[in-house]
Amino acid sequence: MLLFSLLLCVAPLGLLGEETRQVSLEVIPNLLGPPQNLLHIRAVGTNSTLHYVWSSLGSPAALLVATNTPHSELSVNWSRLLSAEPAGGLTVFPEDSIQFSSALVFTRLFEFDSTDAATKPPGKPYPPYSLSKFSWNNITDSLDPATLSATLQGHPTDDPTGAFANGSLTFRVQAFSKSGRPEQPPRLLHSADTCQLEVTLTGASPRGNHSLFALEVATVGQSPDCPTMEKQHSIDDEYAPAVFEVDQLLWGSLPSGFVQWRPVAFSQKQGGRESAMPCQASPLYPTMAYLLPQSPVVRAFFGSRNNFCAFNLTFGASTGPGYWDQYYLSWSMLLGMGTPPVDTLSPLVLGIMAVALGAPGLMLLAGGLFLLLGPKRYSEYQPIN
Ligand SMILES: *[C@@H]1O[C@H](CO)[C@@H](O)[C@H](O)[C@H]1NC(C)=O
Ligand SMILES: *[C@@H]1O[C@H](CO)[C@@H](O)[C@H](O)[C@H]1NC(C)=O
Ligand SMILES: *[C@@H]1O[C@H](CO)[C@@H](O)[C@H](O)[C@H]1NC(C)=O
Ligand SMILES: *[C@@H]1O[C@H](CO)[C@@H](O)[C@H](O)[C@H]1NC(C)=O
Ligand SMILES: *[C@@H]1O[C@H](CO)[C@@H](O)[C@H](O)[C@H]1NC(C)=O
Ligand SMILES: *[C@@H]1O[C@H](CO)[C@@H](O)[C@H](O)[C@H]1NC(C)=O
Repeated sequence: MLLFSLLLCVAPLGLLGEETRQVSLEVIPNLLGPPQNLLHIRAVGTNSTLHYVWSSLGSPAALLVATNTPHSELSVNWSRLLSAEPAGGLTVFPEDSIQFSSALVFTRLFEFDSTDAATKPPGKPYPPYSLSKFSWNNITDSLDPATLSATLQGHPTDDPTGAFANGSLTFRVQAFSKSGRPEQPPRLLHSADTCQLEVTLTGASPRGNHSLFALEVATVGQSPDCPTMEKQHSIDDEYAPAVFEVDQLLWGSLPSGFVQWRPVAFSQKQGGRESAMPCQASPLYPTMAYLLPQSPVVRAFFGSRNNFCAFNLTFGASTGPGYWDQYYLSWSMLLGMGTPPVDTLSPLVLGIMAVALGAPGLMLLAGGLFLLLGPKRYSEYQPIN
């Protein structure tokens, strides 16, 4: 009975744990109106399909829809999507195959003056950059079917100070047909049920000597509750030096949709211990949709009745490595469905533990054997007779 219920909660509806998926990337063209960036990633397993939609329409946003059939399709009605009432402009068919849906919207980039001692960390905020007022490259040109990746690169449309004259903010999206681990730190373990996003800020002139940056992220889901934020401790830091934690957002009880990241960002392209910066997540709070820059893609799928929650991710601290070193900052996360990937102890760490625990263990064993088998010693105490 227990085993049965365990099995039930581990694999509801056959939606999860697909070992491999057929992944295809397609930019959906707007044939009638102005061209727009709308990327559809379709990851098909034996009994399920994950649809990811990435778009720079409005604020950059990612939509995840999981269905329990390998035959579900995404349909876009451009005239509705681009209208003032986008609801219904983006649908997944058949509708009753949809098991889960959620979205992330990247709304604003904040910059703080961390040297301002009068304010508490991260410091005094400069006026934020609204990502809905960025112009983005053509995602078609960056599509790479070999790595299943695509890149959105943008800079503010209106840039009076020229801060982004040589700079850009980049969202690189990558899907996976099977599990593995990328070369780039923090080397997040991915599965076929996940998609990775790497956010990079490069070359933009900071407005202070010690500027910290933060990214505001809004979440949308089916339930009115905010996703829960969880911090998982890990004793293995082989893949992300000195980071013993994995943070995740869960939209429901496990398995559900999730976002997962290591609380670390890097101030250099060759991310390593010397360029690792802390990445701090603020708590999530429900937010009124009208306070946030809109994403037509999210409204097109979820309708106007949205349950938005929002939080900030702050990168770096006033001391240690920072964006100011090389005008570079990168951070990665996974968006996926099912049980978030869990790092098991790596062979290196197991080896170290075996050696560390093994040496004293061997000595104890040797000592024990000596006591048991060694020369018999007579008690110093003689019975008083
Ligand atoms: C997929 O569906 C088939 C037939 O319905 C079933 O035999 C199989 O166990 C399912 N696979 C998974 C991974 O759920
Ligand atoms: C991107 O380029 C393709 C052709 O290479 C073009 O058809 C499409 O409209 C362009 N999209 C955008 C958003 O400019
Ligand atoms: C797309 O939306 C428009 C406006 O809401 C509607 O008139 C049209 O019939 C829709 N097109 C399709 C193919 O559903
Ligand atoms: C942009 O780069 C050019 C050439 O490298 C340099 O001359 C210019 O000062 C830079 N502008 C900013 C705002 O950093
Ligand atoms: C930045 O540092 C320079 C020299 O280290 C200093 O002259 C300047 O006032 C500083 N600027 C700000 C905005 O703190
Ligand atoms: C993120 O930080 C900025 C600047 O401190 C603040 O204005 C904004 O309300 C924060 N957003 C969230 C969702 O906490």
